[in-house]
Amino acid sequence: PLKASADVGLWSARHIVNRINKFKPTAERPFVLGLPTGGTPLQTYKRLIELHQAGEVSFKNVVTFNMDEYVGLPEDHPESYHTFMYTNFFNHVDIPRENINLLNGNAEDVDAECRRYEEKIKSYGKINLFMGGVGNDGHIAFNEPASSLASRTRIKTLTEDTRIANSRFFNGDINQVPKYALTVGVGTLLDAEEVMILVTGHAKAQALQMAVEGSVNHLWTITALQIHPKSVVVCDEPSTMEL
Ligand code: GLP
Repeated sequence: PLKASADVGLWSARHIVNRINKFKPTAERPFVLGLPTGGTPLQTYKRLIELHQAGEVSFKNVVTFNMDEYVGLPEDHPESYHTFMYTNFFNHVDIPRENINLLNGNAEDVDAECRRYEEKIKSYGKINLFMGGVGNDGHIAFNEPASSLASRTRIKTLTEDTRIANSRFFNGDINQVPKYALTVGVGTLLDAEEVMILVTGHAKAQALQMAVEGSVNHLWTITALQIHPKSVVVCDEPSTMEL
């Protein structure tokens, strides 16, 4: 654990930069990075932009896949994950637009969209590093409690708890929070070469306890990381309260 959430941002950003630079990506052999949204990774994106501006990293040969997107929210809605990613990260670094992959939450054929996403990931072989956060109830991406640990990219119904937690981004009004999301599956996450989960704040203490000390189970999908050969949890002190 690190002392504060800001340290989690710096540590995780440096980790990403180190991994990219060590990989020495080229156009033919890009570094494939999985990315989350939410409050937790904001510090990481801020630091990554700073490190990019300081000339320490280029995203020219980095391909990204975001983990999830709300269903039915216009792409340019202020709370869509598209908007989040461009505002907080993509607009400030040198990543080519064609290297950015996001799920289309407005696709007419949702199943085809999810299949397309899985196939696009496969076309790169694997995701080299998947960064994620965790919900208070232990969900990773939008793999809500009771998601199969073998799940792939698909549509999920959001739980009431998740919609309440995320209503803080929608004027505190749960009715404005979409009911469904497209999300990579637990299986998709487990296929990544490395998974890095950021956990900050005491509200995540139980999720972190389950992640580290609980048994692997589909009610706390974060616990699936225990069977991943290379997963790292970057956390601050308040989140370790229950360990
Ligand atoms: C949402 C996202 C998750 C994220 C979680 C926690 O449910 N789909 O990917 O980890 O929120 O978000 P926060 O970091 O804002 O606590």
